[in-house]
Amino acid sequence: MIRIGALVSGGGTNLQAILDAIDRGDIDGKVVAVVSSKDGAYALERAEKRGIENTVMLKKDYPSPEDYDRALADYFEERSIDLIVYAGFMLILGEGFVNRFKNRMINIHPALIPSFCGKGYYGLHVHEAVLKAGVKVTGATVHFVTAECDAGPIILQKAVEVLDDDTPETLQRRVMEQAEWIIYPEAVKLFAEGRLSIENGIVKRR
Ligand code: GRF
Repeated sequence: MIRIGALVSGGGTNLQAILDAIDRGDIDGKVVAVVSSKDGAYALERAEKRGIENTVMLKKDYPSPEDYDRALADYFEERSIDLIVYAGFMLILGEGFVNRFKNRMINIHPALIPSFCGKGYYGLHVHEAVLKAGVKVTGATVHFVTAECDAGPIILQKAVEVLDDDTPETLQRRVMEQAEWIIYPEAVKLFAEGRLSIENGIVKRR
């Protein structure tokens, strides 16, 4: 059983999808700690309801980004975390953090990387850009986290149709329902079963 730590900043719907998959017995793992970068994130309520240890770590409370990264890494290492899931987490962590959890951190991005990703592409901005570009297919991507934003080896992707009358909000909701909440638990399951390997930057599933 793997010990999972979650990084959140907002609603926590992806955390909830993972918790529900654990309840169904789909994932041989346990979420043991949730850290939010923002006060009042509803994701913290979701953790609290399940008796999962949760805390807020605000970047402004630390002298430097490096100090924040170190404190965050220490927090997870002290809890013997095997996998860190970014679940709507809005900060980019530096090498100081990433190197301590290399290939043991995954993120969900609400588009088909390498499209509509990188600096500035988060939350509704992603879906606004998708609609502005007029693409007919979008989706979600689960990938390993590196120090570069949205650039780590891709684990799973799932496509979602863009409808003519979509707004950024309706598209975001459909990408969550039809892609994010399906592939994120699946990626955690594959990791928990030791079925993921990375060969020359390409993820292979056993
Ligand atoms: C989602 O669109 C997710 O793809 C992105 O953050 C948004 C909110 O996620 N990473 P959540 O509801 O907080 O899990």
